[in-house]
Amino acid sequence: MNDEATSVVRVGVVGAGAMGAAHVQTLTRWVGGARVSAVHDADPERTAQVAQLAGARAAASAEQLVGADDVDAVLVAAPDPLHEELVLACLAGGLPVLCEKPLATGTEGSRRVVDAELAGGRRLVQVGFMRRFDPAYVELRALVRSGALGDVRAAHCVHRNAQAHPDATSEGVLVNSMIHELDVVPWLLDDPLAAVTVHAARVPAGALRDVQVAVLETVAGAVVTVEVSVNARYGYDIHTEVVGTAGTASLTPPYGLGVRRAGLSGRVVGGDFVARFADAYREELAAWVQGIREDRPVGPSAWDGHRANLAASAAVESLHGAGRVEVPHEPTPPLYA
Ligand SMILES: NC(=O)c1ccc[n+]([C@@H]2O[C@H](COP(=O)([O-])OP(=O)(O)OC[C@H]3O[C@@H](n4cnc5c(N)ncnc54)[C@H](O)[C@@H]3O)[C@@H](O)[C@H]2O)c1
Repeated sequence: MNDEATSVVRVGVVGAGAMGAAHVQTLTRWVGGARVSAVHDADPERTAQVAQLAGARAAASAEQLVGADDVDAVLVAAPDPLHEELVLACLAGGLPVLCEKPLATGTEGSRRVVDAELAGGRRLVQVGFMRRFDPAYVELRALVRSGALGDVRAAHCVHRNAQAHPDATSEGVLVNSMIHELDVVPWLLDDPLAAVTVHAARVPAGALRDVQVAVLETVAGAVVTVEVSVNARYGYDIHTEVVGTAGTASLTPPYGLGVRRAGLSGRVVGGDFVARFADAYREELAAWVQGIREDRPVGPSAWDGHRANLAASAAVESLHGAGRVEVPHEPTPPLYA
């Protein structure tokens, strides 16, 4: 590591858009034992702005940042198509890396990342499935595991973004957005996905295929519905309910504002993921940094990223007309057991 106390992890951030900037703020304000040392974005103004937030230097290129002496670990928050090559560069340099989801844009790419990590014999990759760190999801998982709900038979998930990202595609609704549920559902239920069937609402020819609803089947036989909308307009809204033979449990809003006004009584719905999952991002980054300091990998692995991609790829086949598609089962390599 570095002379700066051997214990401060100096983080280089690649991609300083909505997610990258939020991670820089979280690392700077909330995570002990780390500091952002370098930032690179394709947009130099954005680089300078976000670097300044953290008192970091602006790096001229991703290559320069990944190989730099003042970078002990890398956070990748660049657009999805860049994830694979950036993570592979980190693995080649022996650097811990937290890569935003998805790990790669397809299963071949995520397999290449897993293979590179296996070749190095050491877990260095954490994938940005932050819901695994969200306090409400953690409690829900503990409740399911305790048996208090009986045998799980079903779950219902809703995932609505206020406004589609400019790069949104019909397949991206699955591989970029629903990927969160494709990771978190098997984790919550401790039950791998067996098959997926995607239904998309009919839209005018050429329009973004939004809303999409998937029916997931798990290996143990539970049925899970997942609605994803990337243009819900009213706000960012996430629901999950688990249905067991002895009861049900659902996420309730963790905080927020209740308003009664103009004949309506209700709760303010936040506009984006940054506010809804603020606690999850803090926990995610704190666990990542702590894991690096203790040389002990934590959180969703490259294998989890690959498994989510296997399910997302099955979902895309289904969207393209294949009906019910089985999710391939690949044996877990010992490094990830
Ligand atoms: N875990 C989550 O909750 C969550 C939420 C949103 C986005 N994400 C992920 O984070 C990533 C970024 O998404 P976002 O919403 O911040 O998008 P964004 O469009 O706001 O930001 C992307 C940034 O990457 C920069 N960029 C483009 N090409 C680059 C390159 N070659 N090198 C360096 N930077 C480059 C852009 O200039 C932009 O600033 C995506 O992979 C997305 O899937 C995760």
